[in-house]
Formats: sequence, C-alpha cells, structure tokens
Amino acid sequence: MVLVGYLTVRRKNYKRYLSKDSRPYAFELTLVKRRAKLRTMAGREDSPSKIIDKETAFQRIFALRKAIEYHNSRYYQKDAPEISDAEYDRLMKELQDLESRYPDDELALSPTRRVGAAPLSKFASFTHLEPMLSLANAFDAEGIRDFDSRVRRLAKIERVEYVTEPKLDGLAVNLIYENGRFRRGATRGDGAVGEDVSQNLKTIVSLPLKMNNGASLPVPELIEVRGEVYMEKEPFEKLNRRRAEEGEAPFANPRNAAAGSLRQLDPKITARRPLNIFFYGVGAAGNAAFADHWEILEALAAWGFTVNPLVRKVPDIDACIAYFEEIGSIRSGLAYDIDGVVLKVNSLEIQNILGSVSRSPRWALACKFPAEQAVTVIRDIIVQVGRSGTLTPVAVMEPVNVGGAVVSRATLHNEDEILKKDIRIGDTVLIQRAGDVIPEVISVLAGKRTGGEKEFRMPRACPECGSEVVRQANEAAHRCVNLSCPAQLKEHIRHFSSRGAMDIEGLGEKLSAQLFDAKLIADPADLYFLTKEQLLGLDRQAEKSAENLLNAIGRSRAPALDKFIFALGIRHVGERTARLLAEHFGNLDALRSADCEELTAISEIGPEIAQSILEFFAEAKNRTVLEKFQRAGLSPRALPPPVQAGLRGKSFVFTGSLESMGRNEARTVVESLGGIVHSSVTGKTSYVVAGSDPGLKLEKARKQNITVISEEEFLTMAGRPIHRLA
Ligand code: IVH
Repeated sequence: MVLVGYLTVRRKNYKRYLSKDSRPYAFELTLVKRRAKLRTMAGREDSPSKIIDKETAFQRIFALRKAIEYHNSRYYQKDAPEISDAEYDRLMKELQDLESRYPDDELALSPTRRVGAAPLSKFASFTHLEPMLSLANAFDAEGIRDFDSRVRRLAKIERVEYVTEPKLDGLAVNLIYENGRFRRGATRGDGAVGEDVSQNLKTIVSLPLKMNNGASLPVPELIEVRGEVYMEKEPFEKLNRRRAEEGEAPFANPRNAAAGSLRQLDPKITARRPLNIFFYGVGAAGNAAFADHWEILEALAAWGFTVNPLVRKVPDIDACIAYFEEIGSIRSGLAYDIDGVVLKVNSLEIQNILGSVSRSPRWALACKFPAEQAVTVIRDIIVQVGRSGTLTPVAVMEPVNVGGAVVSRATLHNEDEILKKDIRIGDTVLIQRAGDVIPEVISVLAGKRTGGEKEFRMPRACPECGSEVVRQANEAAHRCVNLSCPAQLKEHIRHFSSRGAMDIEGLGEKLSAQLFDAKLIADPADLYFLTKEQLLGLDRQAEKSAENLLNAIGRSRAPALDKFIFALGIRHVGERTARLLAEHFGNLDALRSADCEELTAISEIGPEIAQSILEFFAEAKNRTVLEKFQRAGLSPRALPPPVQAGLRGKSFVFTGSLESMGRNEARTVVESLGGIVHSSVTGKTSYVVAGSDPGLKLEKARKQNITVISEEEFLTMAGRPIHRLA
C-alpha cells in the first residue's frame, strides 16, 4: 500500500523531476521495484534496508532525499500535501536509518538535517535569533520508553520529570518582543530563516501586542516566544461552507486553512480568518532566566500568552504514557486538531546536557496518534444540492474506519477538485477526516487502477428538480437555476432554523425535510402557521415533541435583527455581514429600501454583496415570504444603539502599525462609536491615523489636506484613557 502510494506520487511528478533533474525516471522505478523485491525476500515490511548492499543503499538514500524535499515543499510552502503524514514519517525514518548506517559527504544537506523548506520569496525573510528546531517522533508506548531510557542514560539519572503538552496541528511561529512589545514575527521556514508575517500575526486577537508586566516577573528587554497558529474546527467548517457558497476552493483541513490564512499577502484577508494561537516555548530569552520548562509556561501565561490548558507536569515516563492515552481518548472532542502529544524534559539543566542532534533536541519527543487517514474505494459519485443551489459532488465509498469512526461519504467539493485530483468512480483513494467531520479525498492511488474506472461529469440538469445547471465564469461551483428547487428550499429552511440563525431547537435537517415533504411548509415563514394537529399527523411526532417544537418556533417570533437577516439566507451575507447590516439600518424596512450606494458605504460591504442583497429583495418570491413573516407577527428586534456615538459619521483610515491594538481592534473601537473605517484615503476621509512606519496613505492624506492624527490623539478621541499604553 505504501509502495503503491509512493509510486503514484513519483509518477504524478515525473515531469517536475525531469525539469529539475535529468536522471531518468525509470531509474527510480527500478529502485522502488528492487526495494519491493528485497522486502519480499526479507519477509518484512518495515525495515528492508537492514539487508541491502552499500550501492543500493546510496541509491535509495539519494531517491529518498529528493522525494522528501519535494514533499517538504508541498507541505510547508504550497500547503498542499500529496502524501499522508504517516507515509512521510515512514520515508523520513527510512532515510534516517540508512544515513546512520551509511553516512556520506552530502549528509549536511540532507532533509534529515533541516526542519522544513526554504521560504517563498513573497514575504521578507526573517532570521530567527535562535533556530527553530523540530521534534523526533514516536508512535507508541515502546517508542516513548526508548526515548526515556536514552534520556536517563545520557543524563545519568534514575527518573526524569517531564512536561506533557498537546501537539497542536497548525503552524509554528516565532515572535520577537522588545521591552514587552510585539515587534516582529515569522513562520518557521527552514528553521533558521522564516517568512516575516508580522502584519498578519498582529491580526490574531489572542496574540498579545503588549506583554503583561507581572509584578514578580519583569518583562525582559528582548524575548523570542514560540507557539502554534491554528484554526478551530467549527470556524474552519464555517469558513469552508462560506467558500463553497462563494464558489471558492475549500481548504483541505484546519491546518492548511491556518497556514493559507497566515501567509496571505494582504493582512486584511488574514484578519477575517478565525485564527488562534497557543504558546509553548521561548527561543532567545534575553535576560529571562528559568530553571525549568514548567516555569517558562507559567511565565508565558503570566505575561499574557495563551498556554494550552491541557499542559501538565508529570513525575515520570509512565505518567507520560498515561497522558498520551488520555489525550488520545479526548482528542476528537477538542475544539481544535491535535496530532499527538509532546513530551519535554522539564529541567533546563538536563536539557542542556542532552543537547540536540541535527534537526531535533534530544530532550523532547513528539508522540503521534495514529493518522486519521485510510484507503478505500469509491463506489459512486452523487451530487447534493445546497441552499443557494450549489451542486456538491460527494463520493460514496466502501465503509472504512478512519481514526475511530466508520465513514462512507467524502466531499469532493466541486468539479475542478475532481479534475485536479483526477478522481474516478472505482478508484482506490487515500481519504482523511478533515476537521474531524467531513472526510475528504486526499489523492488517488493510480497504481491500483484496472482500467474499468469511470470519469465523472457534473450533470447538466439538477438531480433534484431537473432544471438547468449553470456555472458562472468566475466560480468553481455549478448551480441549479430553479429558485423553487425542493433541495434548495429544504436547505433554506434548515439554515433558517439553525444555530447562529433563528436557533429553533429541535428543528434540524430531518424534521425540516419531513415537514417539507409532507407539504406542511414550503418556506420558512410557513413554520409560524403550523398547528399541533398537523404535526401529530407526522411520523414519530408525539404530543410532547409537537408541543416542544411549537414552543421553540414561538420563542423565535422576536429574533434579534442580525440573526433574522442572517437566517434569510441572502447569498454572501454571513453572520458578520448580517450584524453590520443590522447595526447600520436598525430595521428590516430600511435595509429593504437601501440602494447600492448606501450599502457599499458600509465598510466591508463590496459591490458583490450589495448586488446580492438588492437581488434578494427584488425577487417576488422573497417579498411574498417576507410579507408572510409579517402576517405571522414576526418582529425582529433592533440591536441596542452603540453606548457612545462619539465618532458617528466620521470615517477613518489607518496607516502604519499601532502600538496599543491591532487593526481589527481599532476597527471595532471606531465602529462601536458609530464611525467607519476605510482602507483607502478619499476626499471623504475624516481622519488618517498614522502609526509607526506609515505607508503611502500618509502622503496621500497630506496632499489632500486631510487631518492626520497620531495614535494617542486617536485614543483620546475614542475616549480610551492613554494610560492603557503605558
Ligand atoms: S516544541 C524543540 N511544543 O510541532 C521543540 N512543538 O515537529 C520545538 N508543535 O514545529 C517545538 N505543538 O509546529 C512544541 N506543544 C508543542 C507543539 C509543537 C505543536 C509543532 C510545532 C513544531 C513541530 C515540531
């Protein structure tokens, strides 16, 4: 299986290799075949290299280095891995084993001696003050005990105290704080040099721009702090749903979404992505002196850096193994993805004695959980129709166990994804549970093809209602054009009652569909005319459940305006946009009669969203439903007015970086006071706030005679006491 996966990858990248390297592809194939033969001879899967001769070993080493470099770049630079982590780890382990027995002159340049891949050229490079190391891996209790034995032997001690931490599945970053202020931050890159993503990091709300000056712990003059940027599973799913609605390619998993978001050239895009950060260590620590790692974590927490609440100090390796098992058992219930736990020798003195070998310290170990990936066969590809008519292809697969759950469906996102991965009906595929919920196809094991596989084409007619299916030029999604398509209507009702929208308890996907199919409702407004008798006529509806549902529907008669706007299911209007609209217009009638100019004057609302809102209210069917809501006595509550409206009507443009807060926070401050933030300077701009290192906007403001104010002046204007800065 591994072998086939490997061959597939090599085959797929044949052209790429030819361009970089003139060695014939057949050579590598021969090697792999030879290895397979050796495996058979040896009668074991895991360590074929033990019996090979020197020449074969060097050929294999050479091929492995190339393959690993390639996969490094797919994983670290392109955010588009082609093989599973488990497979990658196997390649790496095989190379490490071979290199330890057959060292050569090129060893220093081997991928086993570096951490990731060189950064892309688009961001400025950033040299870490202290290199960012990687971790050696173990996969079971035996590997963990081996690690502990080595530690005890080298440090000459009987028992070792460890700190155990979840291994977060995001991307590592290094941040520099000078005198307690965030200065710069970067991705890990190759461990020595990363990418300067300071502006993007600043948009992460959980990243302190200023360290707390804890009384017992003076803030050091300079410190490097290290952590993992990640995205929680639920916001990730939401982001992907939004992307699908908007015809954008979805992210494969939260890790890729986090990496893709942090490495956006435009920090505004990053700011809209729900990124988080946990901190787990320090690099160059300046004048900070610690005795052990636990103290470091305590100091980080006291300084205001979020430390994962599941970290623990444990007395010995048995407790580490228990921790590994315990965290493994609660893993799927966590809000974020983890791929293992990390063990760290607590004492810094012992850490120093142990030191590092090549890419990883000898005092830490990553204990990896079994990969949540599996291989299965695609039996069929079906098409589902979403709320806005989007057609989503879904693979129906032979049921397979992935990380403890049996799955038989995987989303294929859209036609482009299927073509890109060349997925066919009958294919054997590698699947992964992304974000723990919707499994997805990572790659096809093309070597398993028999020739009987069938290519998939998007249907020209909607599978639900037979209407025409169209694909707009700038979208990846195909859509059903029929606004009365039953699949769309059912989805629409489900969305209306969902959490975040009207939150009607008990009215989930099944019941919405049941009500619709029984012709009791045709749109969300019909919900408010349902009677108990009607409900009792349905399958599995008892007196009590019917009452509960009617009560839940009744409770939603006075929704908050923003929830109601979101529930309407206007294309491109997510929760945030709905809130902006509710705040700006105050009631539904004002929103209904707004024109394009008024809509686009609201920050964050561009012409595309505005157009979609206008189309929604222009549509006769939607007007009928809105009238029905009115007849049902539904009256959305306006949001409470902002406490102060000191900046009402004023528009702000920010340039340069602020000391006291990030751009997002500044925007919130302005908006909470009734003002608006724009990204570029125009004749209508009231103030340009110039932070440090201001950009061209400052010059533009001066040329146009627009008032330029400092951060301090801005804070005074916003009624924020200046001592917050000190
Ligand atoms: S410590 C020398 N702690 O795992 C120690 N790393 O393969 C270096 N990671 O690059 C890292 N959670 O991206 C450490 N609690 C944790 C971690 C963690 C996730 C990642 C990090 C690092 C990679 C190491």
